[in-house]
Amino acid sequence: MFSLFSVLRFVHIIAGILWAGGAILMNLIIGPAIGATGDTGRQFAAHLISKTPFTRYMLAAGTITVLAGSYLYGVNSNWFRSGWMMTGPGIGFGIGAAAGILALIFGFMIGSTNNAIAALGAQIQGKPSEAQMSAMQALRRKQVTVTVANTICIIIAISFMAVARLLG
Ligand code: HEM
Repeated sequence: MFSLFSVLRFVHIIAGILWAGGAILMNLIIGPAIGATGDTGRQFAAHLISKTPFTRYMLAAGTITVLAGSYLYGVNSNWFRSGWMMTGPGIGFGIGAAAGILALIFGFMIGSTNNAIAALGAQIQGKPSEAQMSAMQALRRKQVTVTVANTICIIIAISFMAVARLLG
């Protein structure tokens, strides 16, 4: 009754909404709230990252979105051989797809940086040493960079997904 294309299109859109919504909410609202609430925020972040499925949920939703989206792009473009890729919608979905794939890579980098911060935080007993302080600062700088990159790529991806079909 339903083709593989229509099933994967449904899965793609639902997973994409869950992923992009979660990423924007986390990066723009919850993350800054954690940063602004000192020890309480750190306690909440440690619980969120190590005791809830949040990271696995985000990476699973992102991976499903990208895999299903790649299949949709493959079918639409006759596996990268048809002129559809150079039409307005083809270019629009292509730009959105590239941004979505980059967002997923940055998402994995956020996950591994969070794990490294949690591991270093667990090592620090009492006052941190100079080396621990500078390692933590470097990890926090990396976390800011990959979070900003992830947010920008998600916004580009959802914007192009929303308008691609109307281009050209
Ligand atoms: C950021 C996450 C993403 C969201 C929220 C999202 C959302 C959507 C939505 C709502 C549509 C339907 C648009 C329409 O019919 O006009 C769509 C279509 C599509 N998406 Fe995505 N998308 C995302 C990422 C991706 C990625 C990473 C790829 C490829 C790797 C991709 C490939 C496609 C393709 C090829 C279509 C066209 C399907 C068709 O012909 O009906 N998307 N996406």
